[in-house]
Amino acid sequence: MIKSIGVVGAGTMGNGIAQVAARAGLDVILRDVTDDLLVRALGTIDKSLQRDVDKQRLTVEAKREIIARIKSTTVVADFESVDFVVEAIYEDFSAKAELLKELDRVCRAEVILASNTSSISITRLGAVTSRPDRFVGMHFMNPVPVMKLVEIIRGIATSDQTYSDTRELAEAMGKTAVEVNDAPGFVSNRVLMPMINEAVFALYEGVGTPDAIDQIMKLGMNHPMGPLQLADFIGLDVCLAIMNVLYDGFNDSKYRPCPLLRKYVDAGWLGRKTGKGFYQY
Ligand code: CAA
Repeated sequence: MIKSIGVVGAGTMGNGIAQVAARAGLDVILRDVTDDLLVRALGTIDKSLQRDVDKQRLTVEAKREIIARIKSTTVVADFESVDFVVEAIYEDFSAKAELLKELDRVCRAEVILASNTSSISITRLGAVTSRPDRFVGMHFMNPVPVMKLVEIIRGIATSDQTYSDTRELAEAMGKTAVEVNDAPGFVSNRVLMPMINEAVFALYEGVGTPDAIDQIMKLGMNHPMGPLQLADFIGLDVCLAIMNVLYDGFNDSKYRPCPLLRKYVDAGWLGRKTGKGFYQY
């Protein structure tokens, strides 16, 4: 029975995962490298829960209890007693590998280690640990408190037990779990990113303005955000990195990133987080 969870990385995804886990009644330890980052993450969680208090879907008392279930730390060794770990640090294989080796040493042998990676191979990450059978992809979507999906990715060595325990956990967190096998971009980003990339090509070739491209997909296909608006929301650096994973992983030119996407990233125009992407914020 999973009663406590360790979340590594207190950024957008990590703090969302911590919030949803605590709201589901789990004890959470949230880890990042500095106290500043942790204070900011707890502030984001507070603000996000306050939306529901304002809409009278959560009492002030319940909000206080959720927040009290989240402990923050800068020390990985504090994970020695948790029942499950989700890694949600930045998308870099070496950084994740180093962290996973440390988690592998600290956590009890039966604990499942999960990665929220959006595109790095689960098989490759699992192989750096001594427990590839207890390693799995648990890919949440942004914003985590709102989006229903958790894409559960089975690496080549992921056991059936690990898969079913992870699925149960995702469901206990109020999410719908969908099972996929390990492949570049899994399913979510293999389908989403080429669409975004194609929208950037349409802009690059002057087929339409950003607004026209986004309106077409919003009004014509009922997408909640247009692809360029969504790219700005995800981060253009993240989109480019995922396109590169698809391009390198399949060796197929259909996944080549649009030169305009590359140019925006080179300019430091990364979307909402830098105040400029395809739109100004
Ligand atoms: N925390 C808590 N609640 C939030 C929230 C947050 N960060 N952001 C929005 N919400 C809630 C709002 O309170 C509101 O709730 P109610 O309707 O129950 O009152 C609801 O979400 C809708 O929000 P808004 O009215 O403010 O705005 P909106 O209707 O424009 O919705 C959105 C915002 C949910 C982000 C919507 O635009 C959307 O679904 N966009 C697409 C998001 C998407 O595709 N995400 C996946 C990205 S890909 C990814 O994450 C994976 C990857 O690997 C790259």
